[in-house]
Amino acid sequence: MEQLKVLFTEDEIRRKVVEIAHEIRRDYQGKRPLLVGILKGSFVFMADLMRALRLHVEIEFVQLSSYGRGRKESTGKIRMVRRLTTPIRGKDVLVVEDIADSGHTLKFVLDYLERKKPSSLKLCVLVDKVFRREVDLPIDYVGFRIEKGFVVGYGIDYDERFRYLKDICIVDEES
Ligand code: IMP
Ligand code: MG
Repeated sequence: MEQLKVLFTEDEIRRKVVEIAHEIRRDYQGKRPLLVGILKGSFVFMADLMRALRLHVEIEFVQLSSYGRGRKESTGKIRMVRRLTTPIRGKDVLVVEDIADSGHTLKFVLDYLERKKPSSLKLCVLVDKVFRREVDLPIDYVGFRIEKGFVVGYGIDYDERFRYLKDICIVDEES
């Protein structure tokens, strides 16, 4: 049975989201960015970020699958199960993701979006697991950098569980 330990509280997350939103707002003054969220993990972060931005944003979602049930490792095979529903050519696209782990998923998404010729393409990640990185990722906005562990809560799951938690917790399987 897993034990959960709070890593970032609801309050810390709220403050962090506002901080990131300030940076983004500063960089996108006079623009109308298109936020592209990666389902499902990013939907809570996306909802809060969007409302903290106070910019005229548009939103889109894509969905990928790379995880098998109960696994904590990417299978390495990434499939896009939901594509964009509108053209992004000429738009200022900001990808919003819950976690950067090995980086393969985000690399896949960035390549997919780049081919559609947006006017700019940036990346915003709530939790960066730098220690796990296998491919180079240009991350423009980062919430939290962590040094170890598997996290859940605030939309982020472990085998579809724990997304509903308000805090971000570390899954501790030792106990
Ligand atoms: P990557 O392709 O290895 O970078 O995997 C990224 C995806 O794996 C993220 O979008 C998450 O959905 C999932 N993931 C990676 N680390 C964690 C974690 O600590 N908790 C929950 N999901 C994770
Ligand atoms: Mg995800």
